[in-house]
Amino acid sequence: MAEATAPEAPKNLSDPEVCTREAERILKENDRGGYTVPTPGLYPFQWNWDSCFVALGWATFDEVRAWQEIDSLFAAQWPDGMVPHIAFHREDPGYFPGPDVWGKAAIWGDRPAVATSGISDPPVAASIVLKLWQGARDRQQAGAAAQRLYPKLMAWHRWFHGARDPAADGMVAILHPWESGRDNSPDWDTALSRVPADGLPPFERRDLDKIDAAQRPRKEQYDRYLSLILTFRERGYDPEAIYAASAFKMVDVGTLAILLRADRDLRVLAEALGHQQDIPEFDRWIARGEDALERLWDEEAGSFRSFDLVSGTFADAITSASFLPLYAGGVKPERLIQMIEILDRWFATTAYPVPSFDPEDQRFDRLRYWRGPTWAIVNHMIAEGLSDCGYDDRAARIAEASARAIRQSGFWEYFDPITGQGLGGDDFTWTAAMWLAWARHFATEN
Ligand code: GLC
Repeated sequence: MAEATAPEAPKNLSDPEVCTREAERILKENDRGGYTVPTPGLYPFQWNWDSCFVALGWATFDEVRAWQEIDSLFAAQWPDGMVPHIAFHREDPGYFPGPDVWGKAAIWGDRPAVATSGISDPPVAASIVLKLWQGARDRQQAGAAAQRLYPKLMAWHRWFHGARDPAADGMVAILHPWESGRDNSPDWDTALSRVPADGLPPFERRDLDKIDAAQRPRKEQYDRYLSLILTFRERGYDPEAIYAASAFKMVDVGTLAILLRADRDLRVLAEALGHQQDIPEFDRWIARGEDALERLWDEEAGSFRSFDLVSGTFADAITSASFLPLYAGGVKPERLIQMIEILDRWFATTAYPVPSFDPEDQRFDRLRYWRGPTWAIVNHMIAEGLSDCGYDDRAARIAEASARAIRQSGFWEYFDPITGQGLGGDDFTWTAAMWLAWARHFATEN
């Protein structure tokens, strides 16, 4: 079993120049030809939102390759617009659940080229495409890429607003914890415990061969992850049927905020690229998204929280996603003040914020996946939201802490928010990309 301790300042990463060369090396080494794996071994395929953040990293030194990353992701898009959370471009027995579990017949059917998972991921793509397009040095290439991607992005957004919001009231649901990208967040504990876990076929997890069990989800969660997949597979991933059948139906405050931001960003692209006919549709989505976000404000907690559509109650947790409405935009000033108060309290107890879970909650676990540790990509979105809302000081603090964790420990999947120790997978692509595209600009003198 791999030990959790990070090597002490490997390769002199305290020097930002060395760090930048190392980050570029990681992207190149994890490149499998048009797409980048999150980390060798643990995650040997293309992951949806990983690739989007990773494209920002590529863009700092290879724009052609940045656009390829997004193109390869959309090559896995389903005919109904859904963009799956994993594209299994090549076979690799080292990951569970692989394409055989998702069900080749249901998924490969009319698209023999790319095998995929059957659920989606937070839709950051449109916001990333807008950023790539705005920052591009090669304008012609960027214009062509944005035009090529626009209808695909639009189809994916239509899928979210249709398949996952049948009531058309903006309460867009996720049906599996993995769709949030925050796999075993305490946000899902109560809803997940409702998912039946009996009668499952025997299965063997592959993550525990590679990572210390203390840093990964527990068995009772894994059983339920699998049970949901089998429920969806039995129904051929038909959106209506799985929405009706799923015991897990959450409005994730993270996904909702990311979608609202992405709707706004795709609207900007629509106007710039001459798709004026779509503007009324965006305006409807944005108005609904704003209403739905409003419903996720829990007055009692003084925070945004995820919402359980089955029980009609708030998730019993304040997590890093509770700050993502800052990234969505439009948060009312009185709410902003309360959010900043919570953030400042978290700053006081964690030297490497933002922890993925409330450090004052008894269930806080600084080592375990999404129940305490800090992620650079979430930090990036929170910091962007803070800057948009006029809190540049807090945004810089988060960026500086992210840079410090990387220089101290290396390019890990996530970090202990108290010590900055690296955790999970090493040579992690999205952490390297976040250094290149963002955190390095905030690295301070030693
Ligand atoms: C884990 C994370 C998810 C990420 C994936 C690949 O499953 O929870 O957000 O996309 O790893 O890095």
